[in-house]
Amino acid sequence: MAETILDSRMLRIADCVPSGAILADIGTDHGKLPVYLAQKDKIKRAVAADINEMPLQKAINNIKTNNLQNKIDTYLTNGLQGVEKFSPDCVVIAGMGGELIEQILEEGTIDKHNVKFIIQPMTKEGSLRKYLCKNGYLITDEHIVKEGKLYQIICAEYDGNVRAISEAESLVGKINIEKAEELFGELIERVIDRTLVKIEGKKRANLDVTEETDCLKQLTDIKEKYYGINK
Ligand SMILES: C[S@@+](CC[C@H](N)C(=O)[O-])C[C@H]1O[C@@H](n2cnc3c(N)ncnc32)[C@H](O)[C@@H]1O
Repeated sequence: MAETILDSRMLRIADCVPSGAILADIGTDHGKLPVYLAQKDKIKRAVAADINEMPLQKAINNIKTNNLQNKIDTYLTNGLQGVEKFSPDCVVIAGMGGELIEQILEEGTIDKHNVKFIIQPMTKEGSLRKYLCKNGYLITDEHIVKEGKLYQIICAEYDGNVRAISEAESLVGKINIEKAEELFGELIERVIDRTLVKIEGKKRANLDVTEETDCLKQLTDIKEKYYGINK
């Protein structure tokens, strides 16, 4: 059995998976995450799911090579559809666009209660956090990882309660703001730059920039607090 090596993004996702979990890895591709976790004996069992046959075949081969067929099922499906039959208590949806992740959550048929969701969007973190807050998910933890670019990892649980979130918090994460870890400075600067570009683009098109300007003010306040800058 060859040891599976994960990059720092996947490694942090793996760290978020609770010991003894029944994992559903949605959009598993190569299946590296469940294979790594099974090799470490960290999970009870897993289903490696993907919508496309080719990536799922890669996962099947990887699982076979590592002789983990008794621990990891594979499943060809769109998002979370039908995944309830595996009774997962931890769902990972990583490496996909934020809008697709939102759609997968929206169309999912699993019982969301008592499930830990570990979500790592490649885009649209702001819309995704707003979706979670509006649709009864509590964000329980957040992480920032640098692997070439910056990635945000969001852990959430469903309790049905709707929560408020500001535009700035949706972009960089309330928990990330509180944690104020080293990579947060880089994240907030990137998000501020992106907001400035958006404002300039809208101004050129003679569009209203009130919302973006408010958001920029919130982001700048967060940044100043992070760096301990007093006005
Ligand atoms: C870029 S890979 C990410 C692989 C891995 N999760 C990671 O984070 O490295 C995206 C995978 O998601 C799969 N995928 C795309 N849309 C999907 C959907 N609606 N349901 C399940 N899998 C999907 C693709 O086939 C592909 O294997």
